[in-house]
Amino acid sequence: MQDQNNREAGLAAIEDEIEMLTTSPLYTYRVAQGWRPVIGEGDHDASLMLIGEAPGKEEARQGRPFVGASGRLLDELLASVGLQRADVYITNVVKDRPPDNRDPTVDEVRIYAPLLARQIELIQPRVIATLGRFAMQFVLTHFAMPEAGQKISTLHGRPLVAHAPYGEVRVVPLYHPAVALYAAKQKQTLLADFQQVRAQLE
Ligand code: URA
Repeated sequence: MQDQNNREAGLAAIEDEIEMLTTSPLYTYRVAQGWRPVIGEGDHDASLMLIGEAPGKEEARQGRPFVGASGRLLDELLASVGLQRADVYITNVVKDRPPDNRDPTVDEVRIYAPLLARQIELIQPRVIATLGRFAMQFVLTHFAMPEAGQKISTLHGRPLVAHAPYGEVRVVPLYHPAVALYAAKQKQTLLADFQQVRAQLE
């Protein structure tokens, strides 16, 4: 059990570091646009952590994860299994928005990854649901899981076991909600996969 004071101090330190992460290739762009870093939000004691890829424009404007179109779908997916945002902790691999909605680069993932690793250690979720292939690869590699390198089309909706320093974690890879915005079939897949997430919390 994480000491509450350590947890809050640790999360506050991470927030400060991301604010001032001048070594990030995305820092200057963030400041020039007048955007915010997106650190993460929700219950610091959550059993379930959701990890996305990188903030979109609306997220960078507000400094909050998943508040644009993908976020509305994410809310619906959570509600489909009886969960609300306040029940979970939501963050991203990359904490600043890459230009033109492009994929994060290897260097960008590398610079933000240790901060996400620390967020996981402080929140100590029992279940991690990854949203999209970037988050999936980060988590599978971070926990040195044998499934690392496999495709999201193979692993989505399959609960996997990871061994964190604080104990066992169930990892459920999911497609990114953005893929389901215009594809009804993908939405059905995400709804079914969310049932697996829920089942891991029982
Ligand atoms: N997509 C993500 O991966 N993260 C967000 O916060 C918003 C959209």
